Amino acid sequence: MEEAVEPVKVPKGLAGVSVADTRISKSDTDGSLVYRGYPISEIASNAGFEETAYLVLNGMLPTMSQLESFTDGLHRRAEVEPKVFGIMRELGPEAHPIDVIRTAVSALGSIDAERELLGKQLSLEAKMSVLAANCRRVPSGQAPKTPRKALRFSDNLLQMLTARESTEYERWAFERVLMLYLEHDLNASTFTVRAVASTLADPYAAASAGLASLKGPLHGGANEAAMETLLSIGDPAKAGEFLTSAFKEGRKVMGFGHRVYKQFDPRARLCKEYLREIVARRGDDRIYRLCDALETEMWRAKRIPPNLDFYAAPIFYSLGIEVPLYTPVFAASRIFGWMAHYNEQLEDNKLIRPDSTYVGPSGLKYVPIKDRRN
Ligand code: COA
Repeated sequence: MEEAVEPVKVPKGLAGVSVADTRISKSDTDGSLVYRGYPISEIASNAGFEETAYLVLNGMLPTMSQLESFTDGLHRRAEVEPKVFGIMRELGPEAHPIDVIRTAVSALGSIDAERELLGKQLSLEAKMSVLAANCRRVPSGQAPKTPRKALRFSDNLLQMLTARESTEYERWAFERVLMLYLEHDLNASTFTVRAVASTLADPYAAASAGLASLKGPLHGGANEAAMETLLSIGDPAKAGEFLTSAFKEGRKVMGFGHRVYKQFDPRARLCKEYLREIVARRGDDRIYRLCDALETEMWRAKRIPPNLDFYAAPIFYSLGIEVPLYTPVFAASRIFGWMAHYNEQLEDNKLIRPDSTYVGPSGLKYVPIKDRRN
């Protein structure tokens, strides 16, 4: 018989608790981030999206033929079945975009023709960006946008998301933002995906759980909330005034703070540079000045730095992407990280099933319903 083990008490929110060994990525309190051993700045300066996705999934940079076969595998699986679009359409124009994608991913679990695990994962990775681009169009009765065979992953997503032509630099910056969103060790959604994987459920189940976890404003929803904040402030001169009233009312400022990065988020620093360049080339730097003013005031008041979402949001805005699509764009990229973690979990699986400390009452006596008082 197994001996009873006294449960280990851990901090609230599992803060600072290591619950898995991983070879995929690591964010650290010193503001560093590595993907499979490569510093994020090295990846952002030199690689492309598909290469980064391959690296995160497979643990090494691809050769030319590996990259071609991976890219081709994604292209071949990017077509979304009309039945899935039909289900999305049924949800109607008021449906929340993440609810639409989550429902579509659940439906894919039954509809997708893929039989092998790798095929299912590639299918999800390929289709997530198509679902992201169509999660508002299709429920509002518009025809779906589809990917073009000749385009790379990020260019394809951007052309499906926006009507206007972007410049070469904007497309380059958008690809970097996607690469920065691709993976981030044990954030809330990735932990959720690993918990589902540990039950041996399929990748569609794990991805739909990941999407559910991404919806909230403390995680994936923060990029949309940050943009709403920026739009509501409008004028860089009003940043201090906005913060004063937010603090007075006990409101959190979306796009600031991080469980791991307490000095700076390296991804936010990179995105700030991309934003600066985008607005400089366009000759209207108001949004950049507003972000910079808010960052300065927030640091002065609370010593809390901006996170990736804070600078990704105005980049998406500058590229003409509608605000409700920001979290779906995050999902289109993070699905690759989720699948890497799904596989890593299964390599050495143990059911994720923590214990809890019961602090409720005990020994109560059942009272028949007729005798209960309100
Ligand atoms: N605005 C104002 N205050 C913030 C803040 C923010 N964005 N983020 C953290 N704080 C404050 C908290 O109020 C708390 O103050 P207190 O100790 O006086 O109560 C302190 O900093 C610690 O915050 P807490 O939420 O406990 O830390 P955490 O490690 O759990 O927080 C986040 C991480 C991401 C949940 C938190 O920073 C947050 O809610 N940020 C806004 C949402 C966001 O941008 N999410 C995307 C993350 S990539």
